Amino acid sequence: MNNIISWSAEDEAIIATNTDASECKRCAVELGYWKDDYISYFVKHCDRKAPEINRGYYARVRAMEMFIHQFLERCGTKCQIINLGCGFDTLYWRLKDSTQAVANFIELDFPSVTAKKCHIIKRNKQLLEKISNEDGEVIIREGDLHADGYHLLGCDLRCLGEVKRKLAAGGADGALPALLLAECVLVYLRPDAAAALLRHLAAAFPRAALLVYEQCNLADKFGEVMLRNLEARGCALAGERLCREPAAQAERMRALGFEHARAWDMRAVWRALPDDDRARVERLEPLDEQELLQQLHAHYALTVASRGDMFADMDLNA
Ligand SMILES: C[S@@+](CC[C@H](N)C(=O)[O-])C[C@H]1O[C@@H](n2cnc3c(N)ncnc32)[C@H](O)[C@@H]1O
Repeated sequence: MNNIISWSAEDEAIIATNTDASECKRCAVELGYWKDDYISYFVKHCDRKAPEINRGYYARVRAMEMFIHQFLERCGTKCQIINLGCGFDTLYWRLKDSTQAVANFIELDFPSVTAKKCHIIKRNKQLLEKISNEDGEVIIREGDLHADGYHLLGCDLRCLGEVKRKLAAGGADGALPALLLAECVLVYLRPDAAAALLRHLAAAFPRAALLVYEQCNLADKFGEVMLRNLEARGCALAGERLCREPAAQAERMRALGFEHARAWDMRAVWRALPDDDRARVERLEPLDEQELLQQLHAHYALTVASRGDMFADMDLNA
C-alpha cells in the first residue's frame, strides 16, 4: 500500500523550493505588489528581496491569475481546480473571498509539505473557517485533509498510481471541467514521469485547461548560470532538457494529449499586462537592474494547454 519512496537529499532541496517561493511571495505582498490576506499565516518571516525578484513574482502571480480568471469566466464555478505541487499556495482562500469559489479544490504535494500546510490550517481560525462545511467537518485521514470542496493530499507526483488514488480520494470528477495548475513544479520531475502525469491528466479530463509556469530557454549562457546556481543548492532540475523555447513547450503539451496549447515567455506576458497595472508596480520600488529583469523574464514561460472547445480561445490578450 505504502509505495512512497524515501526522500533523497535532492528531494529535500526540491521541497525547500516551496519555502523560497512562499517567502518571496510574502515579501512582494508586504511591499504592495498584490493582495493576499493569507500568505502571512504560512510564512512568518521573510527578508526583503531584490526589486527584480519581486517584479518577477508579480508577473508570475498575475499571469496565473489572469488565466485562472479566464477559465472561470468560461465554465463558472461548477468545476474543479487541481493544484499540482501546491506548496503553500493560498489560491483556495483567495477564491473563497471572491465570487469564484469552485465546487472542488484539490491540492497535491509531497507529504511533508502537505503535513505542514495541514498543521498551519488547523491552527488558524481564519484558514480553517473557510474550509469547513456547515457542520464544520474537517477530516484528517492518513495525513490528508478532507473537507467539503477542499482536499489537501500528500503524494509523489512521480508515482502515477499514487496520484490516481489521491485524485479519486479527493473526488476528482472527469465529467466536470478541470483547471490543472503546475506553477514551478513539472521541471522538478524527470521527463518520463512528467509525461506520464500529463498524459494521464489529459486523458482523465476531457474538458480541461492546464497552466504551466516554469523555466524556458535554458540552453543559453544565462540559463547555464541559473542551472549552476540551483545545482550549488543541491537542487537539480530533472526536467531541464525540456525547458526550451516557449513554442517547444506548447508542442510538448500537444504531443501529450492536449488539443490546444500556447506559450509565451514572461517578457510577452509583462507587455500584455494592462498599462495601469504595470505603471503601479513600477512605482513601488526603483529598479536599477532593468537588464537583469529582462533576462529573468526571458527565462520563464507560461504555457496554457487545453482540451475541449470551451477553452480553445484562452489567450494572453483575451
Ligand atoms: C517552487 S515550489 C512551488 C509551489 C507552488 N506551486 C507555488 O508556486 O507557490 C515547487 C513545489 O513542487 C513540489 N514538488 C516538486 N516535485 C514534487 C513531486 N515529485 N511530488 C509532489 N510535489 C512535488 C515541491 O514540494 C514544492 O512544494
